[in-house]
Amino acid sequence: MSAAIHEDKDIDPRPIAGKRVAVLGFGPQGRAHALNLRDSGQEVVVGLRTGSASADACRQHGLEPVSLEKAAESEVVVMLVPDSEQVALYKNILDKRMKKHSALVFAHGYNIHYRRIVPRKDLDVLLVAPLGIGEQVRLQYEAGLGVPALVGVHQDASGQARALAFAYAKVNGHGRAAVMETTFAEETETDLFAEQAVLCGGIDQLVISAFETLTEAGYSPDIAYFCCLHEVKLMADMLHRRGIAGTRKSISVAAEYGDYTRGPRVVNEASRAAMRDLLAEIRDGRFADELDAEIEAGSPLIRRRRAAAESHDIEKVGAALRARMPWLQKKE
Ligand SMILES: NC(=O)c1ccc[n+]([C@@H]2O[C@H](COP(=O)([O-])OP(=O)(O)OC[C@H]3O[C@@H](n4cnc5c(N)ncnc54)[C@H](OP(=O)(O)O)[C@@H]3O)[C@@H](O)[C@H]2O)c1
Repeated sequence: MSAAIHEDKDIDPRPIAGKRVAVLGFGPQGRAHALNLRDSGQEVVVGLRTGSASADACRQHGLEPVSLEKAAESEVVVMLVPDSEQVALYKNILDKRMKKHSALVFAHGYNIHYRRIVPRKDLDVLLVAPLGIGEQVRLQYEAGLGVPALVGVHQDASGQARALAFAYAKVNGHGRAAVMETTFAEETETDLFAEQAVLCGGIDQLVISAFETLTEAGYSPDIAYFCCLHEVKLMADMLHRRGIAGTRKSISVAAEYGDYTRGPRVVNEASRAAMRDLLAEIRDGRFADELDAEIEAGSPLIRRRRAAAESHDIEKVGAALRARMPWLQKKE
């Protein structure tokens, strides 16, 4: 069933009116939320750790940072520090400092869904997850537009949690595009699955396997890099703008025929079975448990694989070719 789409005209902003919002962290999302909320007329403070590297950036935008302890006493507290740091931040500061019936807002459901954080029962616990990077959340707001977002409620101590989640999404600019209701479980599980199957795991393996197939067959690594990696952006941009059917209208007949007849030989029933396995491991918590164990052990697998990946031929070839195209580094 499709999620109902809410937009500005359907959303009552009053549940957040007059409330002080504390944004914890001034990274990509923290910066965007703090500035959007302020520009929407909301009272905002930014909570940063002592000696924070983000303090100057925060001041340059006209916001004087406060301590995390002070920020935690606000009526709405937004968790915009790395997911891996949130558990300790909640335990050491928020759990003790947050006021009864205040709201704790997350931009990703992971720590709540997998019960790494179990918030006090007297708090509202909300999800407002932008469907875009922080930079876009700010840029689109400034342009008078918005990035869509998912909202959800984990805990409703005040009786106002759902209305507050929508109101927050509105003042952050998401109602200009689309606000869709979800659960912490759905947001977390679909996000992890998409990272593993498509956005990170899937695409990286596809690119590397195709590059290796061409170079093993004797083709030039430079040309293999262009065909299998560099041109991904062209296709991704078209998919983003036009969808799959729309993109097929812009490719050659050979590309379209190869797409229908050869694509399913690469991503086939075995790949789908693997995807179902990934999803099962995400849903029953095995992936999260495995990740915790990896981090607790000092991330040995991540460090080993990262080092191996960085010394792969595709990186050497890519670094040399990208250096010839400084325009690639230009911010979008
Ligand atoms: N990146 C995105 O566009 C995106 C998209 C959707 C959802 N999200 C979610 O948004 C949340 C924030 O992600 P993000 O990528 O915007 O930010 P981030 O890069 O994860 O966090 C950066 C900020 O967190 C602060 N920070 C780091 N460790 C801290 C600690 N131990 N205690 C207090 N502050 C700490 C940093 O302070 P210093 O400057 O002092 O280092 C910095 O201000 C996450 O839940 C993420 O899953 C992100």
